[in-house]
Amino acid sequence: METAKLLFNGSEYELPVTIGTESEIAVSIKALRAQSGIITLDSGYGNTGSCESTITFINGEKGILRYRGYPIQELAEHSTFPEVCYLLVYGSLPTKDVLDSFIHDLTYHSLIHEDMKKFFEGYPPSAPPMSVLTTIAASLSAYYPLDENEEQLQLNIIRLLAKLKTIAAFAYKKSIGQAYIYPRNDLSYAGDFLHMMYAVPSEQYVVNPVIEKALDLLLILHADHEQNCSTSTVRMVGSSDANLFSSISAGISALSGPLHGGANVAVIDMLQMIKNDGGNIKKYVDLAKDKDSGFRLMGFGHRVYKNFDPRAEILKEVNKQVLAELGKGDYPLLDLAMELEKIALEDEYFVERKLFPNVDFYSGILYRAMGIPTNMFTVMFALGRLPGWIAQWLEMRNDPGKRIYRPRQIYTGERERPVIPLSQR
Ligand code: ACO
Repeated sequence: METAKLLFNGSEYELPVTIGTESEIAVSIKALRAQSGIITLDSGYGNTGSCESTITFINGEKGILRYRGYPIQELAEHSTFPEVCYLLVYGSLPTKDVLDSFIHDLTYHSLIHEDMKKFFEGYPPSAPPMSVLTTIAASLSAYYPLDENEEQLQLNIIRLLAKLKTIAAFAYKKSIGQAYIYPRNDLSYAGDFLHMMYAVPSEQYVVNPVIEKALDLLLILHADHEQNCSTSTVRMVGSSDANLFSSISAGISALSGPLHGGANVAVIDMLQMIKNDGGNIKKYVDLAKDKDSGFRLMGFGHRVYKNFDPRAEILKEVNKQVLAELGKGDYPLLDLAMELEKIALEDEYFVERKLFPNVDFYSGILYRAMGIPTNMFTVMFALGRLPGWIAQWLEMRNDPGKRIYRPRQIYTGERERPVIPLSQR
């Protein structure tokens, strides 16, 4: 076994090295504090491996993303979202019979308890659908027996995958004051979601196959992204043996932040701002290059992908096809986005720094073209990420070496001091 050595204060500590299947190297510090009294400091966890995982592999330098070993490009071309859900949660691609049975389960568990509708009624009409999603996902734990045995856990996994899209669609209906539309068993996962969002009781709704396919693809592309903020949250909450629903609800909360799930909303806000200011793209590209301006082009650059984000590459092509098929309708922001992409991709500043448009740039545009309202963008992200969260939660729970997540800290506050009674302060 390879080891690394740490020299400190005249002592030498030998640290075991772990090498992943893709030759990634980690120095294990599990025993470091016990041996030396030293801890490591890595705020933001940018250089910390929190677990060993068999689910998703990313190589940001080479632009690689694989779920369970399968390249995202191949999954996007050959699979559907339910297939990818199965792959992530259970570890292998299903056979036709297994997939049919899985889809049957996802379909027949999609109704929510009638009493839960009262929760939706209690929210003000202005409630953001993402807030509603978070709380109602958590309240599932009050309706269903918790994960006390394997059978209950497996059923809860299906319930969550099946019901979250119903909850998401109901949250949207609440926000626009329309009647809740119940799920339909003859539709696909993506088609049923669109039906619950857009149908009204007074007329028939026909799912547009172009939008249905695009939504299915968007869900696949968001299904997992290893130890990001929301996934780490799901694992952390679950490490206390909190139930599945509570852990996932915590993940949805983490995703709600603009630095995580909200970036594609920021893209649309930025495009709107440029449009309102007369559509002068060059002005904003120049502003983004000026370090003193504090302005960045939203939807450009990525912390992990320093080459290209393979999801963005896929979406860029799909955007072209979908916009060709749907027509751009009355979305002037789309023209603006395409123009901005062209200018930035040719600009030396962006080329030098490898600032490519990221997945949020294209997903924001695609959602907009599909008619998805901005306040549902992050909700769609949560629906897509759900199987990844579940897979990561299961992996954490089934790890024989599992311990509650409990990082340490370096205290930099006051030293011990006496309390001065109030009358003397
Ligand atoms: N516009 C203008 N300049 C940029 C941008 C941008 N969007 N992104 C990075 N830069 C510049 C930086 O100023 C820096 O320049 P310098 O080397 O001259 O100082 C250089 O590019 C490197 O930038 P960093 O901030 O070091 O890159 P980091 O990896 O820390 O940040 C991030 C990545 C946060 C995504 C950044 O590119 C950004 O703010 N992008 C806009 C917001 C966005 O689109 N977020 C969504 C990301 S995708 C996701 O999270 C799912």
